Amino acid sequence: MRTDSINHWDIVAENYSEENHQGKNFHAQIYLAAVNELLGDVAGKHVLDAGCGDGFFSLELARKGALVTAIDGSDAMLNIAKRRHFHGNLQYNKMDLTGELTFENKLFDIVVANMLLMDIPEIELFIFEVARVLKRPGDFIFSITHPCFFLSDWEEDENNTKRYKKIVNYLDEGVEELNFWGKTLHYHRPLSSYMAALEKTGMYVSSFREPIPPRELIELYPEQEYHYRIPSFVVIKAKSI
Ligand SMILES: C[S@@+](CC[C@H](N)C(=O)[O-])C[C@H]1O[C@@H](n2cnc3c(N)ncnc32)[C@H](O)[C@@H]1O
Repeated sequence: MRTDSINHWDIVAENYSEENHQGKNFHAQIYLAAVNELLGDVAGKHVLDAGCGDGFFSLELARKGALVTAIDGSDAMLNIAKRRHFHGNLQYNKMDLTGELTFENKLFDIVVANMLLMDIPEIELFIFEVARVLKRPGDFIFSITHPCFFLSDWEEDENNTKRYKKIVNYLDEGVEELNFWGKTLHYHRPLSSYMAALEKTGMYVSSFREPIPPRELIELYPEQEYHYRIPSFVVIKAKSI
């Protein structure tokens, strides 16, 4: 199961990275604005970028003065990251995020995980490990697709406007195949499962965002205006104390 999810990322890595590399990822612009807001000033901070993918965000953090350790389970992603997104303050390591992390306790000021948690089959151990490797106090900031709405298709009204979504079996955890950049796996779990995993570690949620695109972005892409009706992402900041 776990290698299965990574294998898919190995196959789609080039497509995924190409989209980010060319600044075409409209969705990333929505959730990264909230992630950056919650990160604040990272200069001088030791940051773990978990599930770093092709490292484009890890590089952004390093350029802002953070000392960045970036980890991912996909060789293909890491190869692209090392080729495209390198920096003196940025180190890449291969690690399976469904297992224990090979870092000592209380090493990082910040752990960031963009679009990772709904891609791994099990989150409890990962979040436990995040709490272990974070300093006290420390910040864990993660973005995910919105668990309430992501898997439901839009429905249009009589004017062909995307207006509604039917929510089906929201409380059932399960795995679905997606096909954005090629086949990948999506592990649906309700919002309360994320909250319960955080609660077990003793971390507490200090910020919760359902980000929407800035107006300037919608002026460029008016067909994406439906993002103002139902949010596509959740960004959460939890604190270790
Ligand atoms: C949607 S991508 C996000 C990448 C990057 N954070 C970004 O925002 O572009 C999900 C990433 O999680 C990684 N991943 C999935 N399952 C994993 C696992 N079990 N262990 C480590 N990485 C995993 C994939 O290789 C992929 O790079």
